Amino acid sequence: MNENIKEFFNNIAINYVHDDSKLIEDLLDSLFLEKCPSILDLGCGKGIISEKLALRNKGEVVALDFSSEMIKYAKEKIKNPKVTFVNEDFYEFKSKPFDAIICFDAYPHFMDVEGFVKKANDLLKEDGLLAIIHDIGRESLNEHHKRSAGKVSRLLKAPQEECEPLLRYFKPIELGESDTYYKIVMIKR
Ligand SMILES: C[S@@+](CC[C@H](N)C(=O)[O-])C[C@H]1O[C@@H](n2cnc3c(N)ncnc32)[C@H](O)[C@@H]1O
Repeated sequence: MNENIKEFFNNIAINYVHDDSKLIEDLLDSLFLEKCPSILDLGCGKGIISEKLALRNKGEVVALDFSSEMIKYAKEKIKNPKVTFVNEDFYEFKSKPFDAIICFDAYPHFMDVEGFVKKANDLLKEDGLLAIIHDIGRESLNEHHKRSAGKVSRLLKAPQEECEPLLRYFKPIELGESDTYYKIVMIKR
């Protein structure tokens, strides 16, 4: 399953475009990342938020993606010494724990939710922040993923329902959605 997803993103990387916007800045501002010296940009793709994270915190940003093609473009674009790119699968990634994991526009591609929850718990410090965010509303996102659902993505439920498997290790801080965004923010218990 994971190999299919990796191959899918390797194949679309050349044409993958993510438009920048004020909404992305606002969503990241709302996380108060200045309190998080180490941040994992999970599923960084071509690095749309990697440098934005580095501009908000005082330490390091590790930008992780298992698509070598996506990471290649990210590395070409972002030269900030605070950002380190890692080409690995999240489910197998080993590291010292982070203050925050930001999963931006990538969560529906993590098909093994139980594995995701355990790994996120392992990779976060006590009181660490887990943010699952999208700069698109759930309806539009699910419409976009409908064709690939079950193969390289899954459909998202409302934040209150979607966060249920996460409650074992995380407590909700903010659950919200609108036509333009989707947000699950949690703290490690
Ligand atoms: C839709 S793209 C979003 C990329 C970027 N965050 C953005 O907003 O432009 C999702 C990314 O998640 C990555 N990804 C999916 N599953 C992954 C996994 N298990 N480990 C690491 N990266 C993964 C994919 O390779 C892809 O680049």
